[in-house]
Amino acid sequence: MRTQVLIAYCTRSGSTAEVAEAIGKSVNGAGMSAQVKAIADVESIPTGTEVVLGTAIYIGHFPKEFHRFLTRFESELSNVRPWVFVLGPTEKERKQFAAAEEQARRELGKHPTLRPSDMRVLGGRFDPTHLNLPFPMNLIQMLPANPMRKLPASDIRDWDWIHRWAEAIAEEIATRV
Ligand SMILES: Cc1cc2nc3c(=O)[nH]c(=O)nc-3n(C[C@H](O)[C@H](O)[C@H](O)COP(=O)(O)O)c2cc1C
Repeated sequence: MRTQVLIAYCTRSGSTAEVAEAIGKSVNGAGMSAQVKAIADVESIPTGTEVVLGTAIYIGHFPKEFHRFLTRFESELSNVRPWVFVLGPTEKERKQFAAAEEQARRELGKHPTLRPSDMRVLGGRFDPTHLNLPFPMNLIQMLPANPMRKLPASDIRDWDWIHRWAEAIAEEIATRV
């Protein structure tokens, strides 16, 4: 039977979901069976499933629902060594990446039983016309002088790198079987 790989993601504006889909394609291409799911659609994590987790970072934190997901599946996730990717910086600046790395490590540290095989901060996407922010962040969007509207759109997701990382994950999984 083909190895089952769950790629569970938490997104607000869709860019993390697209990265999860890309990882799923590469993992499938490596002969495994990848299931790409929003965390809200994950009902169980069967024993033997390999796991990749992805989330966006907002104002220095993972969304609450991602923390709730990690807590809900704490026991299952403590038995696997998940790969974790975190979308954050929207500019190719070392400082932004360093800050996001620190934030991501601190947020993951709230779940001490989670022992990732690898954790990577990836460049993300900012599109002021496609924001789907929850309260209270959406209040800023409603302001007539919404400061976010003045920010330029950017998308620094590195699809070649993402593809190579997914292939490396598949290779490592293959050695575990
Ligand atoms: C209101 C807001 C706050 C953000 N805060 C951070 C942050 O603190 N650190 C960071 O690295 N990226 C931050 N970002 C960038 C997002 O993480 C990035 O746009 C990501 O690709 C969004 O993922 P999603 O489309 O899956 O929701 C922020 C973006 C917005 C719109």
